[in-house]
Amino acid sequence: MKQHKINIEYTELDTIDELNNEDAYLVAKAREVANSAWAPYSNFLVGAAVELSNGKIITGNNQENAAYPSGLCAERVALFAANANYPNSPVKTIAISAFNKNGQVVEPVKPCGSCRQAILESEIRFEKPIRLILDGKKHIYIVDGISNLLPLSFGKNDL
Ligand code: THU
Repeated sequence: MKQHKINIEYTELDTIDELNNEDAYLVAKAREVANSAWAPYSNFLVGAAVELSNGKIITGNNQENAAYPSGLCAERVALFAANANYPNSPVKTIAISAFNKNGQVVEPVKPCGSCRQAILESEIRFEKPIRLILDGKKHIYIVDGISNLLPLSFGKNDL
């Protein structure tokens, strides 16, 4: 028998002011686009802003549906739109912000399992780790690559 341990790493910041200008702009975009989410069922409004290597920023927000599983998270709306429109431009960073009935969520918003898997696919596709900026009122987390959020992942090499 063999015991294994996997470490994950992330950086915690207290405010958006601690980010560099480029990252702060991306977070501002994620916050802004969350306002236009279609989330009448959960009232949980999420915004995602994807920065590509070609400098473009693509945004998305959660799109809910009365048939609940037909909806999609903000991260995948943004990421799929980015990959669909710029299929040759690697994703550099994705910033995610969320708001509930009390305003911006206090703790950083953590992407769901399906979004983590979709982010992994994009990393593998472009052979480049994606930085994640998880925005919250009290803290902001910076995560360097999805392996920190999805250890022991399933990807194309496992097929
Ligand atoms: N949601 C996102 O868009 N991203 C996340 O990271 C967490 C959850 C959405 C899905 C659903 O529309 C609502 O938030 C409540 O789960």
